[in-house]
Amino acid sequence: MIHLKSTREIKQMKEAGKLLAECHKQIANMIKPGVTTMEIDTFVERFLKKNGATPEQKGYRGYQYATCASINDEICHGFPRKQPLKSGDIVTIDMVVNLNGALADSAWTYAVGEITKEIEHLLSVTKKALYIGIEHAVVGNRVGDIGHAIQTYAESEGVSVVRDFTGHGIGPSIHEEPLIPHFGKAGKGLRLKEGMVITIEPMLNLGTYFSQMDNNGWTARTVDGKVSAQYEHTVAITKDGPLILTNQDE
Ligand code: MF3
Ligand code: CO
Repeated sequence: MIHLKSTREIKQMKEAGKLLAECHKQIANMIKPGVTTMEIDTFVERFLKKNGATPEQKGYRGYQYATCASINDEICHGFPRKQPLKSGDIVTIDMVVNLNGALADSAWTYAVGEITKEIEHLLSVTKKALYIGIEHAVVGNRVGDIGHAIQTYAESEGVSVVRDFTGHGIGPSIHEEPLIPHFGKAGKGLRLKEGMVITIEPMLNLGTYFSQMDNNGWTARTVDGKVSAQYEHTVAITKDGPLILTNQDE
């Protein structure tokens, strides 16, 4: 079932998103060789608490941390850990903030120290793919229009689109209908309606798109060991166009 949100509900989700965006801005300043993803996770948990919010991922289906921290060939749902990040790594920090029951979900990939030109290209393509997807999140379009736009652009830049994980509706719980694949056919799938709130979160790989699951039952990584990047926003579909609830630039 799809839960359409009122203007008031979207406003509350925007407040959660604002806090999440602030969190990412602080994390951007913390990222450097030597820092650990466990330190980042601890920071997030404290920051949210201080601001009257909670990390929705903690306890979700038994997940134990406030954030997901996926390093290099990890595609998503990496566990925060005490191993220091090193120059040349990339790390995706993903989190869902709950502020008074309103949720927002956003992931961002950070470069640690100096990264290669190839990985830099992957990051810039992945971020641009997110914003191309958002442009297509308008009333009357179909879910396939978002995926098709992302896939066409990503593949034209020589990177691949992960199939096994998708965006999703969000609120009142983390994963709601509909699924938002980052690949697909234009004009196909469910029609987008005013009041839908979805995540768009392309995971793009330097190598093949196939993923395999770690023994921990959570962490997905590339089968060829090449790196994977991800940028994610929570987006409300409004009559005035897509509204990014987790925007860091305001
Ligand atoms: N933002 C993540 C996603 O949409 C949330 C995953 S739930 C967790 O995939 F428990 F893994 F954190
Ligand atoms: Co998500």
